Amino acid sequence: MHESEYIADTAISYRKDYGQFFTPPPVAHLMASWIIRDNPKTILDPAFGLGVFFEAVKNIALDKKFKFVGYEIDEKILNYINFKNNTNNLEIINEDFLESPIRYYDAIICNPPYMRFQKFLKRHNILPIIEKQIGKKFLGYSNIASIFLVKALHQLKPNGRLAFIMPFEFFNTGYGKEIKRSLLEKHLLKQIVIFSNEKDIFPEATTTVSILLCRYDKKNEPIKLTFISDKTEMKNINSIGDYFQATIHPNDLPVEKKWTPIINAYLFKEEKTPDGFCLLSYYGKVMRGIATGANEFFALNKSRADELGIVDENLTKCITKSQQIKKLVFTEEDFNELVKLDKPVFCLNVKNLNDEATLSYINYGERKGYNNRYLTKNRSPWFKVEHRRRAPILFGVFNRGRLKVVRNYSSAINFTCYHSFYPNIFGMNILNKLFVYLISDIGQKIIQLNKRIYGDKLDKFEPRDLNDAKCPNFEQLNLITDAEANEVIELAKNDEKRAIEVSNRLIERILNVQQSAPADRQSAGVHPLVAGFH
Ligand SMILES: C[S@@+](CC[C@H](N)C(=O)[O-])C[C@H]1O[C@@H](n2cnc3c(N)ncnc32)[C@H](O)[C@@H]1O
Repeated sequence: MHESEYIADTAISYRKDYGQFFTPPPVAHLMASWIIRDNPKTILDPAFGLGVFFEAVKNIALDKKFKFVGYEIDEKILNYINFKNNTNNLEIINEDFLESPIRYYDAIICNPPYMRFQKFLKRHNILPIIEKQIGKKFLGYSNIASIFLVKALHQLKPNGRLAFIMPFEFFNTGYGKEIKRSLLEKHLLKQIVIFSNEKDIFPEATTTVSILLCRYDKKNEPIKLTFISDKTEMKNINSIGDYFQATIHPNDLPVEKKWTPIINAYLFKEEKTPDGFCLLSYYGKVMRGIATGANEFFALNKSRADELGIVDENLTKCITKSQQIKKLVFTEEDFNELVKLDKPVFCLNVKNLNDEATLSYINYGERKGYNNRYLTKNRSPWFKVEHRRRAPILFGVFNRGRLKVVRNYSSAINFTCYHSFYPNIFGMNILNKLFVYLISDIGQKIIQLNKRIYGDKLDKFEPRDLNDAKCPNFEQLNLITDAEANEVIELAKNDEKRAIEVSNRLIERILNVQQSAPADRQSAGVHPLVAGFH
């Protein structure tokens, strides 16, 4: 690709007439990494230029077999391409993409010519043809890039992926409305990428650039939002599809509204506690679980307890290890499952000292020296465990990434692998709503403000950290109905991801209703603590 040579040889007015602005290779690489994810057999670039996307795809998908088709209207630019047309897997078609017949592709990648439609020479003949091809009227379309997008989307095969550069402002235009509608209705839009420092990344750009990543998989899922600050950040991104700072539910993107303020609001939320929040300790108390001082003695599985003959009265159902709870909701059935698997989910909790079998197990413990451990030797008698009730919400003590929050419906108590939350009179009836907040992304972020980081990205929460964590106040939590909170619980039993998504939306509702917000912000539905887009 001889970009500098081409630019030196070509008048800027000529380039403008054709909308010839070039994609920097690192951006092309990001986009290529999205479209090649499902090993496409056919790839289309409707505005080939000097072929930066072909090069990027070739570099990533070295060993993969694919056919790459590029349309390019300008014959002159094609003379500057340094790979041969029609060699191997590349076909360059020196024609107008908008006039091309409808063919379907597994992947489409494009930086379309961006120019006002009025400047486009063939505008009179072309529109009716495309309108007929795809069965849609282009009312009020003022930019040719959007017609490229509509046609390209139409040519995407089921399950196909598309990466398209578009001006960010396109989301605010009148004609953009119809495209937004079809992007959402067909569940095509998966991710929007925007850049902070365009001049650094796109030296030639005159508008704010964004990248749309689409997939024709018919899945209704949250749209990822990515903000890239500079070249260095961009170079460190391995797979753009997994790199994002926020997600937004399609329902929160009304097509009638301008999208850029909404997207900015989601991306640039300040990580500071929203107004009106109170401490978790307002609703109850977080305490560490039972510290036995000798878990290997006190934790018993069913077969061992039976073998020893210890009476049921002296055994209490108990979560003794963090991995015994795998899901966000833990029920009595889940507990019974652990019993069936013969996991150590009973704790020796001596109430009846007349039981021979229990006494002989205590003797065995003394012979092994468990009575002389740091904690046991200070207790009287040494085998008396702390008295604890079951807790309806549990918190993981050591966490990687997210703080583990469990809604516990079982009757089991727990060892120190979990902290226990005991609600007071204020917390008792809003446990499910609290749970919704605690598993939501925002709740997690706010709670993480209090965490202590241990080696290897392991976060530790002390009960104090959690008691001091900020939560929505009573009134704010009441913006969530009991039925909505119950729905999250039901979802959380089997589908953690979905439960978190629904929780995110419910908590967004709280954040967007801030009584003290200035009128203009309230009407925009934007959280008042959201920082503006600079
Ligand atoms: C924004 S440039 C992008 C070039 C290249 N894909 C890149 O990203 O660097 C758009 C290219 O589309 C070409 N072009 C303009 N109108 C076209 C049309 N109707 N059909 C096909 N190509 C067109 C221009 O000549 C230009 O090379």
